[in-house]
Amino acid sequence: MKIEKYHKVTREDYEEWYKENEGLREAVGREEHRLAYHLMPETGWLNDPNGLMELDGVYHIYYQYDPFDAEGLLKLWNHCTTRDFIHYENWGPVLFPDQDFDAHGVYSGSAFVENGTAHFFYTGNVKYFDRPDYDYITAGRGSNTVRVDSRDGEHFSEKQLLMTTADYPADISCHVRDPKILKHDGCYYMALGARDLESHGLVLLYRSEDLRNWEYFSRIRTKTPLGYMWECPDLFFLDGQLCLICCPQGVPKAGLNYENVHQCVFMKVDGDFRTGEFSVREEEVYHSVDRGFDFYAPQSFEDERGRRILIGWMGIPEADYTNPTEKDGWQHALTLPRQLRIKDGRLIQTPLEELKGLRRQQWSFERAESFNSAGEMLRRELGPVFEAELQFSDCRSMNLQLRRGTSLTWEDGVLTLSMEEGGFGRTRRHGVLGKLEKLQIFSDVSSLEIFVNGGEQVFSSRVYADCGHDGEKTGGYLRLEGDCEASGTVYRLGGFSVEKRKENDK
Ligand code: FRU
Repeated sequence: MKIEKYHKVTREDYEEWYKENEGLREAVGREEHRLAYHLMPETGWLNDPNGLMELDGVYHIYYQYDPFDAEGLLKLWNHCTTRDFIHYENWGPVLFPDQDFDAHGVYSGSAFVENGTAHFFYTGNVKYFDRPDYDYITAGRGSNTVRVDSRDGEHFSEKQLLMTTADYPADISCHVRDPKILKHDGCYYMALGARDLESHGLVLLYRSEDLRNWEYFSRIRTKTPLGYMWECPDLFFLDGQLCLICCPQGVPKAGLNYENVHQCVFMKVDGDFRTGEFSVREEEVYHSVDRGFDFYAPQSFEDERGRRILIGWMGIPEADYTNPTEKDGWQHALTLPRQLRIKDGRLIQTPLEELKGLRRQQWSFERAESFNSAGEMLRRELGPVFEAELQFSDCRSMNLQLRRGTSLTWEDGVLTLSMEEGGFGRTRRHGVLGKLEKLQIFSDVSSLEIFVNGGEQVFSSRVYADCGHDGEKTGGYLRLEGDCEASGTVYRLGGFSVEKRKENDK
């Protein structure tokens, strides 16, 4: 069965297609760059995490998914659950583009849990072809806000169309999407990413008292425009501060900042929920949530223990670098979950505590020299799947080799992630830092996530270097040199277990 672009897809279509594609699944499952401890598409394409929540002790992770092809033309929501972020169940797709109002994609959205019910809000995407003159910015596109609910995260109520493109304010283009809910003082607020008719990005805020009827309330924008469109807004309180994470598109590179084609920034917002006055605390450069090559469209949620957890898409749209796995029928992954905090007014991100459960054997080093000789051993024995925690004192410069052609260097107050072979077009990304004190590095078969100085900065990236020793694909790479004192611990890591489940297994 062939799935066509711009056609509705039903659960039955998917199931028929699934039955016919066992061979593809097996081939993708054996592909050499498959990750050991990240969520990836079983076949095809993955992008934004959606609907993140904890419901009765179970974490639910949905994501934008196109099982049918690795270019991501169609968008469904795939559903995974976990209790510990190490053992997962993959329930397969749950929301299909099967209605007139979401026919060309069940686009991104979020979950809001109250009294044991999860309320989901997403964007139903529709592209119109009835006229030849659509620019698909001011006309030709339907961005419908849709609600469904569920008591178990797997079985859903009927889809309810809440708003269509015609319902948004008159000065807004037809790019409006990615609803995210915040409850404050007994009212519900929905943040929607938008592009206005002057091509400035902003957030539209709607208000509701029952999660069903929504009224336009206000908007959040920067005084100096930042890009033409803000995708995936995430508005939340963290340690008493109203925060906005969003993804502005079309922001030009500024020195060593905003190096990716699209951004993901953290903003502090001053807001009055009674009067509807909101202002972003203006900064010359907004804090990048991640400074690596592959990070976009993250979403956060508060779990039952009160932790704010964020997961991102370890990928980015429209980049000028590629993933070689596309030709093998799959690409992209989600990042590891991170916990967010505010410290001294700054965003701090640390890998979720549960990930320590992946740790197996460990090696510790006191001095850089012993690290060097151990580096040789690690190359042979460790494999690319490891975690390294390194501490530095008096660091004036350092160079850490992570793969053949991939290194992290610290020089003149700048941390640089460089890639040559294995980068597939990825070159250099930077972070300006006062001091280098700590690195925590998660290396998987084809990815790196690097937490700097306890989470002040993070670099997430895919990497496809042959990381082996003398051409063998068996070795990890960790070689440290520099003008500094260093100590560290390296852990061999186990992998996630992801069990494929069917809806009626529940
Ligand atoms: C961000 C995004 C969202 C949209 C979704 C579609 O990556 O463009 O704005 O809802 O992807 O898959």
